[in-house]
Amino acid sequence: SLSASEKAAVLSIVGKIGSQGSALGSEALTRLLLSFPQTKIYFTHFDLTPGSADLNTHGGKIINALAGAANHLDDLAGNLSSLSDLHAYNLRVDPGNFTLLSHTIQVVLASHFPGDFTPEVQAAWDKFLALVSAVLTSKYR
Ligand code: HEM
Repeated sequence: SLSASEKAAVLSIVGKIGSQGSALGSEALTRLLLSFPQTKIYFTHFDLTPGSADLNTHGGKIINALAGAANHLDDLAGNLSSLSDLHAYNLRVDPGNFTLLSHTIQVVLASHFPGDFTPEVQAAWDKFLALVSAVLTSKYR
């Protein structure tokens, strides 16, 4: 789990996202799809043009889910239970893809919040995203 200072570091960035959730999430998805094109197989029903309504809407959902999880750091499993069911039973996303998305989310945060996303803050986010990913891939078997 996260230490008190790691929790504060995660929440400090959540507090800066404000209304930019869709834009940030959309960019993270675009970086995922371009750098790791094998991830496109999960989104064949989407318009994958950068900035498309599909990517903006879905990007917003991802960032909202992360912001919600960041406010329930002591009960991530409970907070993410239905999303965990969805990714394991319905979507069956290969667990390796969570590392890739976690990476592109960090690239986006570093590029949009350069003064705030220090090495220490990134380390806290990396740990947070790994914990979220562990919950979302926990029901595969
Ligand atoms: C759906 C969050 C990782 C593929 C969703 C939804 C959320 C979400 C909030 C929408 C659920 C709903 O509409 O009820 C997350 C989070 C992730 C993550 C927080 C990790 C940080 C991934 C990865 C992939 C993926 C790695 C595949 C590369 C999908 C797909 C959908 C979905 C295909 C359904 C999209 C649609 O048809 O609307 N995810 N997700 N997710 N996720 Fe994830």
